[in-house]
Amino acid sequence: MTYRKKILKDIKILSSEITPRSAYLNRRELLRTSAAAAAAVAFPASSATLPNQRGTKLDGVNKSPLSTDTAPNSYEDITSYNNFYEFGTGKDDPVRNAQEFEPRPWSLEITGEAEETGTFNLEDFISPHTLEERIYRFRCVEAWSMVIPWVGIPLADIIKRHKPLSSAKYVAFETLHDPSRMPGQRSRVLQWPYREGLTIAEAMHPLTILAVGLYGEVLPNQNGAPIRLIVPWKYGFKGIKSIVKIHFTEQQPETSWNISAAREYGFYANVNPAVSHPRWSQARERAIGTGLFASRIDTLPFNGYADQVADLYSGLDLRRNF
Ligand code: MTE
Repeated sequence: MTYRKKILKDIKILSSEITPRSAYLNRRELLRTSAAAAAAVAFPASSATLPNQRGTKLDGVNKSPLSTDTAPNSYEDITSYNNFYEFGTGKDDPVRNAQEFEPRPWSLEITGEAEETGTFNLEDFISPHTLEERIYRFRCVEAWSMVIPWVGIPLADIIKRHKPLSSAKYVAFETLHDPSRMPGQRSRVLQWPYREGLTIAEAMHPLTILAVGLYGEVLPNQNGAPIRLIVPWKYGFKGIKSIVKIHFTEQQPETSWNISAAREYGFYANVNPAVSHPRWSQARERAIGTGLFASRIDTLPFNGYADQVADLYSGLDLRRNF
């Protein structure tokens, strides 16, 4: 058994929904204490825990200097205009169809080219880490954009704990596949489960996070509860939701949109105003939330994060590797 699993296995902290808040907070304190004791050698003293009550504020969230200073979109914009094909293909389907989804208990499987593989419950996975608020620009491949105050953990911190081998060149991710809980999976609109992937360098980049919340609260189901990927310099479809599996691999992994339409969606999917989608331009974007006639603004290379990430791609032809 790895990490603090031995210590935490009997602490069922996932029942915060049916527990009064005061009792739940005590339990949270217990977890924090146990986690701190067990993690004292390997990890920093602070720890993150994750309640599961909709609208619950997340405690101990640090503001990150990596946030943009642009004002975020409203909570309503961010949680009612979504892409989540597991709950329907319309923008307003996820908010309507994901409300019954129960994202607890939740476990993540870590497999492949790493020393610390296995199945971890979400709390074990999250709790050694400090949560950070990251306000990021978000650019969808459909040429609209938002600014979103995510709460999450640098993916690099999580990856380091699992000790990938030198053969791990890529990280692959999978969403839960359960048509009984995700009704959109009864349709063949995509090949399920939804899959995504990053190079190990992209996954380790300080801007890349696993998000567990937004606007300081637990992540709403329609935004990918309980845990999803955010890579702010890439088109939004890379941000895979409701992740159950993380796999370290030597081979470039298959990705859902590339399987579905390889000419339109490549593996890299870096925001690039100079390379059009075959059916529309990527030079401009509609900033959601700026009124009925939402203003169109110029799309920036790497979604405005070029200073931080362009180095990752030096020597790579970004027209061919779109
Ligand atoms: N993840 C899963 N599992 N299923 C999806 O359909 N849609 C992607 C991405 N992650 C999607 C997904 C697309 S196309 C976008 S633009 C973003 O989620 C939207 O994230 P948001 O709804 O939180 O804005």
